Amino acid sequence: MTQITLRRPDDWHLHLRDGEMLAGIAPESARHFGRAIIMPNLVPPVVTGEDAAAYRERILTALPEGSNFTPLMTLYLTETTDPADVAAAHASGLVTALKLYPAGATTNSASGVRDFDKVRPVLELMAEKGIPLCVHGEVVDSDIDIFDREAVFIDRVLDPIRRATPGLRVVMEHITTKQGVDYARAGGDDLGATITTHHLVINRNHILVGGIKPHYYCLPVAKREEHRLALREAATSGDASFFLGTDSAPHADPAKESACGCAGCFTATNTLSILAEVFEQDGALDKLEAFASRNGPAFYRLPVSEETVTLTKGEPVTYPGKIETGAGPVTVFDPGMPLHWRVEA
Ligand code: DOR
Ligand code: ZN
Repeated sequence: MTQITLRRPDDWHLHLRDGEMLAGIAPESARHFGRAIIMPNLVPPVVTGEDAAAYRERILTALPEGSNFTPLMTLYLTETTDPADVAAAHASGLVTALKLYPAGATTNSASGVRDFDKVRPVLELMAEKGIPLCVHGEVVDSDIDIFDREAVFIDRVLDPIRRATPGLRVVMEHITTKQGVDYARAGGDDLGATITTHHLVINRNHILVGGIKPHYYCLPVAKREEHRLALREAATSGDASFFLGTDSAPHADPAKESACGCAGCFTATNTLSILAEVFEQDGALDKLEAFASRNGPAFYRLPVSEETVTLTKGEPVTYPGKIETGAGPVTVFDPGMPLHWRVEA
């Protein structure tokens, strides 16, 4: 096969940031994707409907002329989130989902949840209205090894929450483990999982062998090879439980290339070419559309895009190594292999 046409993909987990960074990187997602679930972990976070409305306007302003990219807004769940505000923001169509960060789990998660009993009324409301909860699934206990944090979260936090809140629709964001794959697969229609582009490509050796690679560091951190292979199998299976959420998370290079570097891989620029390469390697190009364009809308109960994108196979694709933004240069994820699938304009 030398050409493939898909319904236009969506990104079900994206960091667009704010200000100069937003202006610099929004076009990278808008070029190929139709919609994206926008992460609310700004400083300060997007907590209320009013915050989301203002952020949405700033995103729309940052989009290139003529773009019809649609930001799907999320609210950052805090222990003081008001259920009435959530209900109103969802009913008006402004907000698509809420995001749960365990406090301290990752970038700008200090306002996240410590005591899950405090968010019980919001979770009950979400279950009743069918509002999805996007979950950063890692425990933060200092005695839990960072490579075990996802698996422990499933047992200690996620499974109890789901049992206590029947009908709650949950997206396990950016799963990185075989345990995540197995739990998502067994979870039924109210459970989905996003998988990033980079976790299909790198394992923990890529971060650490031969010198530390800050641009491969993200959270959840990439795990052992057996886990990467489980993610590949899940993504390329066509199973409706799994869909693309790039977690493309730009940080200016000085913040990454530092003695205490930020977590995040920036993949918005070359994600579709990487995915086509990965799916072709696994003999699953026919499943790419399910993963990138169909399973996500099905979970979120939204229509599949009416538009299409075409990828053509040929000489290795060229793409910029960095995106220059007013907030500094952002390094584009290096998949470590030539990419042969070009997205047609
Ligand atoms: O690597 C990550 N970067 N993981 C997250 O959960 C947050 C994100 C960010 O905002 O930079
Ligand atoms: Zn993220």
